[in-house]
Amino acid sequence: MDTDSKGTSFKGKVSSESEVEMTELVLPNDANVLGNVLGGRVMHWIDLAAAIAAHRHCNSICVTAAIEGLSFLNPIKVGQLAHLKARVICTGKTSLIVKVVVYSEDMNTGARKKTSEAYLTFVNLDKDGNPKDVPPLLVQTEEEKADCMRAREIKNRRVSKKDTGEIE
Ligand SMILES: CC(C)(COP(=O)(O)OP(=O)(O)OC[C@H]1O[C@@H](n2cnc3c(N)ncnc32)[C@H](O)[C@@H]1OP(=O)(O)O)[C@@H](O)C(=O)NCCC(=O)NCCS
Repeated sequence: MDTDSKGTSFKGKVSSESEVEMTELVLPNDANVLGNVLGGRVMHWIDLAAAIAAHRHCNSICVTAAIEGLSFLNPIKVGQLAHLKARVICTGKTSLIVKVVVYSEDMNTGARKKTSEAYLTFVNLDKDGNPKDVPPLLVQTEEEKADCMRAREIKNRRVSKKDTGEIE
C-alpha cells in the first residue's frame, strides 16, 4: 500500500472496507418508563458504531467532533433489536463524516423500521493528538455520491456558522 510518512494511504478506500453493522438487544435497563429505548442509549450506540467505522477507515484513532442531523423517528421497544449501520460517506483533509442509520427489528414478526439517522464528524489524530490526514474515500455509486453531497452540505453549514460567529 502507498502511504506517507505517517502511514496515510494515498490510494483511497471504498466505504465497504470500513462499514459497520452492529446489533443490540434492548433490555429493561436501556428503556424509559414507556418501555422504549432511551435516546441517550441509542446515541451511545451510534457514536460507537461510527467510531469503529472511522477508526477502520483511517487505521488510527479518531475523535468525535460533531453529531448532526440526529433524529428519532420511531421507538424501539424492550425485547426488540436495534440494528445499526455505519458507513464513511465523505472525507476532508483530516476529518471524515460517518452516516449511521438505526433500524428496529421485532423478532416475532421480522418487521423492521427505520428509527434513527445521524451524521458524525470524526477527526483523525496522530500519536501526539494533532489532526492528521485521512485516506481519501473513493465514491462510486449514485447513492454514495448523494450521501457525499449531503455530508458536504453539513460541513459547509458548520463552516458558515463559524464564519458568522454563531459557533466557535
Ligand atoms: C476535534 C478536535 C481534535 C479538532 O481540533 P482542532 O485543532 O480544532 O482541529 P482543526 O481546526 O485543525 O480542524 C481539523 C479538522 O477537523 C474539523 N473540525 C474541527 N472541529 C470540528 C467540529 N466541531 N465539527 C466538525 N468538524 C470539525 C475541521 O473542519 C478540519 O477538517 P478538515 O481537515 O477535514 O478540513 C478538537 O476540537 C478536540 O479534541 N475536540 C474534542 C474531541 C473529543 O473529546 N471527542 C469526544 C470523545 S472521542
